[in-house]
Amino acid sequence: MAWDTLIVEVEDNVALVRLNRPEALNALNSQLMSELARALTELDRDDQVRCIVLTGSEKAFAAGADIKEMSTKGFVDMFTEDFFTADSETLLRVRKPIIAAVSGYALGGGCELAMMCDFIICSESAKFGQPEINLGVVAGIGGTQRLTRFVGKSKSMDMHLTGRFMDAAEAERSGLVSRVVPVADLIREAMDAARKIAAKSQVAVKVVKEAVNRSYETSLREGVLYERRIFHALFASEDQKEGMAAFAEKRQPQFRDR
Ligand code: HXC
Repeated sequence: MAWDTLIVEVEDNVALVRLNRPEALNALNSQLMSELARALTELDRDDQVRCIVLTGSEKAFAAGADIKEMSTKGFVDMFTEDFFTADSETLLRVRKPIIAAVSGYALGGGCELAMMCDFIICSESAKFGQPEINLGVVAGIGGTQRLTRFVGKSKSMDMHLTGRFMDAAEAERSGLVSRVVPVADLIREAMDAARKIAAKSQVAVKVVKEAVNRSYETSLREGVLYERRIFHALFASEDQKEGMAAFAEKRQPQFRDR
């Protein structure tokens, strides 16, 4: 499928999805969000794809929602079309892991989009921010909620109230990103991580994604109970037998996703 605002390539069972509106620093407009939702839905159904990397350019992952598109809208327009809600929630329904690979600006909706992925690897040039306050608005696809859970109240308030940017070192220190790498290594590092994930049992991979995400939605006690039940359930899979047999036989496992 051809896209106007994305470049999608699949290699070694990993899909690399590149946001591609260079003239606007990958600002998220309705077309891009709709294409992204459709592309991710297709990749989630594609048996050749076992992990997804979402990236932008060296200068910008995404500089936020498209301010020019939003500027003339009124409350009724935003409310009636439920701006970006359906498309951004499609991303949350993808069952395969999505790694955000961030270089340059990840601002506003761009930061929120990265946080909706399963984890973030960034380059030394990354700058995260929720500068909506400078436009007289607030984050709209989860920024006030997710950033607060990821980096804590004090830093989240600071970011949302002052609109300042967080660099890569601060993002790693705060737990927003899992790793920081040189700019030139970003895609290789993210693709290597994705290939590692693609080589695992996809049954266990989906279970891990579900379980970790559940920790944001439930109490500790319920989350631990859920984990215990799915840990027990995985003993019904062939991949559990294969993984443990391979360990005992000192060989690499051959997972069949069953
Ligand atoms: C539309 C944007 C844009 C955006 C950049 N551009 N960000 N267009 N929406 N969010 C465009 C610029 O207008 C310009 O186009 C071109 O991209 C290059 O940007 P410059 O500003 O010239 O680049 P630079 O000087 O390097 O500054 C980079 C920047 C700045 C610091 C990232 O562009 C900036 O502050 N952008 C806005 C960031 C922001 O406020 N994001 C939050 C948006 S609100 P022209 O045609 O002039 O060359 C949001 C709400 C989410 O995200 C809620 C979702 C429902």
